[in-house]
Amino acid sequence: ELKDDTIIIVLGASGDLAKKKTFPALFGLYRMGFLPKDVHIVGYARTKMDEAEFHKRETSYLKVPDNDEETAKKVEEFKSFSTYVSGGYEDAESFKNLNKHLDEIEGKYQGSGRNRLFYLALPPSVFITVGKGLRENCYATGINRIIVEKPFGKDTDSCRELLGSLKQHWTEDETFRIDHYLGKEMVKNILVLRFANVALTSGWDKNSISNVQITFKEPFGTEGRGGYFDEFGIIRDILQNHLLQVLSILTMERPVSFSAEDIRDEKVKVLRAIPPIQREDTLLGQYVAANGKPGYLDDDTVPHNSVCPTFAATTLWINNPRWEGVPFILKAGKAVNEAKVEIRIQYKDVTQGIFKDIARNELVIRIQPTESIYLKLNTKTPGLYTRALPIEMDLTYKRRFADTKIPEAYESLILDALKGDHSNFVRDDELDVAWKIFTPILHWIEGRNGPAPRPVPYPYGSRGPKELDPFIQKYGFRRSDQGYVWPVTNLS
Ligand code: BG6
Repeated sequence: ELKDDTIIIVLGASGDLAKKKTFPALFGLYRMGFLPKDVHIVGYARTKMDEAEFHKRETSYLKVPDNDEETAKKVEEFKSFSTYVSGGYEDAESFKNLNKHLDEIEGKYQGSGRNRLFYLALPPSVFITVGKGLRENCYATGINRIIVEKPFGKDTDSCRELLGSLKQHWTEDETFRIDHYLGKEMVKNILVLRFANVALTSGWDKNSISNVQITFKEPFGTEGRGGYFDEFGIIRDILQNHLLQVLSILTMERPVSFSAEDIRDEKVKVLRAIPPIQREDTLLGQYVAANGKPGYLDDDTVPHNSVCPTFAATTLWINNPRWEGVPFILKAGKAVNEAKVEIRIQYKDVTQGIFKDIARNELVIRIQPTESIYLKLNTKTPGLYTRALPIEMDLTYKRRFADTKIPEAYESLILDALKGDHSNFVRDDELDVAWKIFTPILHWIEGRNGPAPRPVPYPYGSRGPKELDPFIQKYGFRRSDQGYVWPVTNLS
């Protein structure tokens, strides 16, 4: 249920995350009528600026089509309930000053309660002091909630330390840890697809499935973010959180209910059945200059001899009766040939005999762009022959749900946090098991216990390291349908 009389406080209001994601999502929710009644937004950051300057930044990434007066009017309304306070992240005085501002806003309303949602769009170096400062100085009489976002540490120990410190001030119930992939429409759909369809449920195991790939591809490099990225690398940036979250929902057992704890209990359970990743199940790459585009090491903010991977493929195994022996290949690359995030489930070969070299079934869940689900099947070639032809059963959202706007991940998640629904947020024990799976391989990559491995080079704009195809084949993936193309190109 949505609480009226809520103030949403965005800390780090002049940073990139706030400008590009948080404010546009808040505006999107407002425009669609999903923010609470009498909501107020307060930006907070160190930068000193007046309200006009803040409004300019707050709205700098909103998409307002020319001549769209209605949206333009909404933008003005949005500004009218947004204010700004500047202050530090370390000292009590600054937070007291913020609290004074919040009290004044609340004083204007004679509502039922005083509720505050704190959104920390901040670097992890200040998470703890800000969490403490807010709890001690800005805690309201009504409901208080805090939203934080990765990185949650760099390995098991640092994550525990960070979580432990925040827990001294904010309860698990008050804390909402974002993994924005959990807000994506197609990721949320996995639960329904899996558990509402007997046709899929019955073949969802090692008896039918040969291998699974979860792929993230981005056609741009770390331009401008090299400093941040080099400290973390692609595994911490994408695999350990976004792709592992997708994997856990894809493989968990059926939850008792849709409640947050029931879902997260099942996710933790399946994650606990995954042993730490082995070196030989890992392929690392780093992009180099090509086609006029700079290599990773050409970025001035990156150390010239960095061995930080910008591409990684790792294979995970799940030691439970459902999944024993099925390889789950997670792969992610920056500066590759296309933008694409998808899950590809490849089924086993059909029994030979009446067929020879027939294509395998594949179920593909395209998370972005062009949200879709398609199942590759064999059908008889129409006509006077009996020959099998690979085709697809295709649910492409733009076609089937032409008039539906798919919400942005952050819109969906902020709304959940306003309602107090934790289902699509990461629980503390989930993070702990996630780090346990990745920590040994991360320490190896950092050269903690011997020489650091060198990532293999791949050209900017390529499919990734040339070693990738043999790597995937090693786990049984078969590209048996040469010439098959999913006909998505017909879409405008
Ligand atoms: C972020 C990563 O978590 O996710 C970025 O830090 C990445 O490196 C981004 O670009 C991708 O998100 P999306 O929603 O564009 O797929």
